[in-house]
Amino acid sequence: MIGKNSYSVSEYLNKITSCKLLAYLGFFIILQKLYKFFRLFLNLFVLGNYNKNLQVYNNHNTSYKYYALVTGCTDGIGLEYTKQLASKGYNVILLSRTEEKLQALSKELKQEYEQGSFPIYVLNCKNVDEDETAKLANFVKNYPVTVLINNVGLSHAIPVPFLETTQEEWRSIIDINCIATLAITQSVIPTIKKTVGTDPKLRGLILTMGSFGALFPSPLLATYSGSKAFLQNWSMAMNRELLKYKIDTNIVLSYLVTSKMSKVRRASLLIPNPKQFVQSVFTNLNNHGGALERYATCTPYWSHAVYHFAVQEFFGCYNGIVNLINYKFHLSIRQRALKKKSKQN
Ligand SMILES: NC(=O)c1ccc[n+]([C@@H]2O[C@H](COP(=O)([O-])OP(=O)(O)OC[C@H]3O[C@@H](n4cnc5c(N)ncnc54)[C@H](OP(=O)(O)O)[C@@H]3O)[C@@H](O)[C@H]2O)c1
Repeated sequence: MIGKNSYSVSEYLNKITSCKLLAYLGFFIILQKLYKFFRLFLNLFVLGNYNKNLQVYNNHNTSYKYYALVTGCTDGIGLEYTKQLASKGYNVILLSRTEEKLQALSKELKQEYEQGSFPIYVLNCKNVDEDETAKLANFVKNYPVTVLINNVGLSHAIPVPFLETTQEEWRSIIDINCIATLAITQSVIPTIKKTVGTDPKLRGLILTMGSFGALFPSPLLATYSGSKAFLQNWSMAMNRELLKYKIDTNIVLSYLVTSKMSKVRRASLLIPNPKQFVQSVFTNLNNHGGALERYATCTPYWSHAVYHFAVQEFFGCYNGIVNLINYKFHLSIRQRALKKKSKQN
């Protein structure tokens, strides 16, 4: 009986392996995965070009002719965007909430790049109404702006269930991440459009900071996760509308980066510092990095890209197990933060 059974199993296996259709299917799936892996490799290590990408929006001009506007520019990733743009011949409009920090940064940049211009604009992104939007539009139209970096953002103080999130916190996150970003973008687009129209070789860029918090729906960071998912779709939708004006939009996806917001101080393989991160963004502009499945989207830092690619290809970003792991990760951060707080009291 056992002999008969094992004969029929091997016969069955022979049948499967000799079935051409299955063999072709298997071959096709393997080929598809290899092709995607090859594309990831090309995107991350071959196609990117930091200097060339940054020249596109400056018309190969290194003499401080055109302007970029960076929001949340006084710290973390925004400060690094500002410094790298200034070093590549861009004037930068510095927009953030703390006037003294803005003045100090403007002075520091002017000392380093004498030819450059670094005007400041004080704006608390928590309260951007129609009047503020019009005021900003009026200010910006005085400068030939080609680049907008929508960097300003707020996350939860610590991971927290939505039910326990204070209204002050979730409103601030939506106000800063969504309302202010839309208002600022609407104030700046007409000026970018006008500037780009002055030269057939020039292009405009709107770059918005997304997050892995939205790539994977993130329990205990629900409002932040939702706000960044909103920016993801908004930016991708707008991409099609703005291409006809020669304005590129990129939404940038990132896992943790060392900063005040992430509360991570030491860089590691998976957590770059702002300098390394921004270098990877400019190197991979209009490229996908690890975000192969999405257009006008980039996961630029190499280890984030491999992480994004692996989860997407092997499980799917909306997979329930991935979501459970994410929940446990944030729960452990919450428990540690609460323990630390109770020790301090
Ligand atoms: N760090 C990460 O791990 C990470 C990961 C994924 C995505 N991101 C995204 O990257 C962006 C930058 O994050 P970051 O870590 O660099 O943040 P950060 O270190 O906290 O810096 C935030 C910047 O925004 C300014 N700002 C904060 N609240 C403001 C307000 N109400 N009005 C105007 N300006 C305000 C801050 O000004 P002050 O100096 O005056 O405080 C500072 O310049 C955010 O959109 C974030 O969601 C970050």
